[in-house]
Amino acid sequence: MQAWKTYQEKNKDRFLQELLELLRIPSVSADSRHREDTRRCAEAVKKRLLEAGADKAEICPTAGHPIVYAEKIIGPGHPTILVYGHYDVQPPDPLDLWHSGPFEPVIKDGRIYARGACDDKGQFYMHVKAFETLVQTQTLSCNVKFMIEGEEEVGSESLPDFLRQNKEKLQTDIVLISDTSMLSMEHPSLETGLRGLAYMEVEVSGPNRDLHSGVYGGAVANPATVLCQLIASLHDENNRITIPGFYDEVAELSAAERAALNKAPFDAEAYKEDLGIKALWGEKGYTTLERTGIRPTLEVNGIWGGYTAEGAKTVLPAKAHAKISMRLVPNQTSHTIEKLFTDHFNHIAPEGVTVKVKALHGGEPAVTPVDSVAYRAAGKAIETTFGKEPIPTRGGGSIPIVALFEEVLKTKSVLMGFGLDNDNLHSPNEKFDLFNYYKGIETIPYFHRYFAEMSKEG
Ligand code: BES
Ligand code: MN
Ligand code: MN
Repeated sequence: MQAWKTYQEKNKDRFLQELLELLRIPSVSADSRHREDTRRCAEAVKKRLLEAGADKAEICPTAGHPIVYAEKIIGPGHPTILVYGHYDVQPPDPLDLWHSGPFEPVIKDGRIYARGACDDKGQFYMHVKAFETLVQTQTLSCNVKFMIEGEEEVGSESLPDFLRQNKEKLQTDIVLISDTSMLSMEHPSLETGLRGLAYMEVEVSGPNRDLHSGVYGGAVANPATVLCQLIASLHDENNRITIPGFYDEVAELSAAERAALNKAPFDAEAYKEDLGIKALWGEKGYTTLERTGIRPTLEVNGIWGGYTAEGAKTVLPAKAHAKISMRLVPNQTSHTIEKLFTDHFNHIAPEGVTVKVKALHGGEPAVTPVDSVAYRAAGKAIETTFGKEPIPTRGGGSIPIVALFEEVLKTKSVLMGFGLDNDNLHSPNEKFDLFNYYKGIETIPYFHRYFAEMSKEG
C-alpha cells in the first residue's frame, strides 16, 4: 500500500537508529551482572511501544526478568494478534572473536552487527515499526497485543505462571512471532514447526582429590576419560542416539511429507563452504533438512574438567563435567527424555566413578498448522512483498513458548521469521541484514490486513 510505503520511506533512518539504541543495551539474561541493563531494556521497549501508538504499556515484574506488555484495542469486531518476542540476548562470549563490540552496533556491508541484531531485538522491533506504520496511516485492522519477554534465552521460566495468571488479558486469535529464519531472501519460507529441548548437565567423579597422573595414573579410572567414553557411546555407527526408548515417541513423517520437506532448495556445497567443513554428518537415512528439522538430536554443548590453563600440568582430575542437550520432535516430551537420559547415563557409568545427572531446562516441540487463516494470511503477505509464495520448512531451533501458548491459551502461532541461518545467532559477530529488517517492516502490515480480511471471510 502506497501510504505505508511513503511513511516507511520517510522514517527509514529513524527506524534504524531506534533499533541501534536498543542494541546498545546489554540485556544478557543469563548474567546477573546485567540485571539492571535488562530492566533498562524493558523500560526502553515499553517507551517505544507507547510512542508507536499503544494505548497502554506496562512492565510486568516476574521472579526473573520483567515482561513488557502493551496493547491497542480497536474494537470487539476485529481479530486480535498477539506479537511475542524477546528483548533478552545471549552472552556475547567469546569476546575476542568479535570484529566490533557486541553492544556497539555497526553497519557494515548492509548488515547490522551486534548481539541481538537478529535474535531477537531486530526481529521483534520490526513489529513495533510495522504497528507504528499502521497506526500513523490510520489503517490498523486488528487489535494488537505485544508480549515481549526478557528470559527466552534462559528458558522462559517465569512465562508459564504469567500465561496462566493473565489468560484473559492475553486472549488472542493468533500469536505472531518473528524469531526464526528464512531459507534466503530469494527463497522466502515460513517455519511450520520447532523442536523441543531437554538440557542436561552431568558430573563424573572419581578419586576424592586431584591426583598426580604419574603416581596414580593407570591404576585409577580417570573421570575425564570416562566422561568422553560415556559421551562417545551416546551415538552408534549410524549416528543414531543409543539411549533406550529415545525414539519410541518420535512421529515418523510419511514419504509424501518427507518429499515435500526436501523440495526446499538446499545447496550442500555452499552449506559446507559457509561453515568451513569438508563433510556433512548425521543420522543415516536422513537428509540434512530432515536431520535439522524432523529428527531428534543430541549435542555436547560444553565439556570441562582437569587442567585447562596455559602450559602443561600432569594431573588426574577428580571430576569432569559436560552440558548435553537434546532437540526433540513431536511427540517426544522433555520430561520423558530427561528421565530416559538420566537412567541410561547412570546405567552405563562404570564402577570406580560416580555420576550425577541434572536436568537444566526443557521445552516441548511444536508444529503449526498450514491450513489456517493465519498461515494463509502470512503466506499472502510474503507473496505480496517478495513476489513469491513462501516454502514451508521445519526449524531446528526451539521456542518453548509456542507449545505453551497452545496448552494454556489454546492458540496457535505463526512463525514469520526474517532472519537467516547464518546470522550467527548465539555466536560472535551476530548480524541482521538491513534488507531483511526493512522487508520485515514492509511485510508485517500486510499480514494484519489479510488476517483481518480473511478472518471475516472465515
Ligand atoms: N530464536 C531462537 C530460536 C530459533 C532460532 C528458532 C533460529 C529457529 C531458528 C531462540 O532465541 C533460541 O535461541 N532458543 C533456544 C532455546 C531456549 C530455551 C534457550 C535454542 O533454540 O537453543
Ligand atoms: Mn530468539
Ligand atoms: Mn536465541
